[in-house]
Amino acid sequence: MTAHIHPSILSADFANFQSEFESISSADAIHVDVMDGHFVPNLTFGLPVVKRLVEISKLPIDVHLMIENVDDLAVSYAETGASSITFHQEASKAPIELARKIKAAGSKAAIALKPGTSLDFALDNLSEFDMLLIMTVEPGFGGQPFMPEMMSKVERARSEIQRLGLDIRIQVDGGIDEKSISVSASAGADTFVAGSSIFSKSDRNEQIVLLREIANRFSSN
Ligand code: DX5
Ligand code: ZN
Repeated sequence: MTAHIHPSILSADFANFQSEFESISSADAIHVDVMDGHFVPNLTFGLPVVKRLVEISKLPIDVHLMIENVDDLAVSYAETGASSITFHQEASKAPIELARKIKAAGSKAAIALKPGTSLDFALDNLSEFDMLLIMTVEPGFGGQPFMPEMMSKVERARSEIQRLGLDIRIQVDGGIDEKSISVSASAGADTFVAGSSIFSKSDRNEQIVLLREIANRFSSN
């Protein structure tokens, strides 16, 4: 399995997305964190900005919704042409129906779990999702330390996906750098979100290539 690197633009310059996108052209997709100030204490941007980001991006857009009322709001994000829409299980009253609606609107559907959320629901309904996001920090802010204790969830999810013979990505998000990407890849993750560890570098494309190379080297898949 090839490792996919998704830089999170939460750590980018919000006044210069076009040039920031050019600096991460070697990425596999761009991770866009939508935060509403309610589901998480931080506030970023909403639908009109995501629409423009999809229009200007040459890479697929991976939208991570950290918002309340996601059952009502997520489909509009899928309709922007974003490649994938990730919503939090904790914010949805009907995750399976929502995943089906997102897919019907043309995007891949992913379910995200905060660190304290059990894996059981996602594992019981794996075939409904294209990707599972296992948060490795509490959602809301960039630059937080990686939580290695989340690796047992990654390992359990990977073994269940393999047992069922499904083609489902496992994404990790939060505190991903040269060290934690090796730990996550050997646990079974294949899609890696990294904000501060990419945007803090002067040559971001070189850092993306390095992260991908480390993940592929440590991959257990
Ligand atoms: C946190 C966001 C992340 C964040 C990761 O809630 O979902 O995507 O940007 O930032 P780093 O890589 O700096 O931990
Ligand atoms: Zn994110």
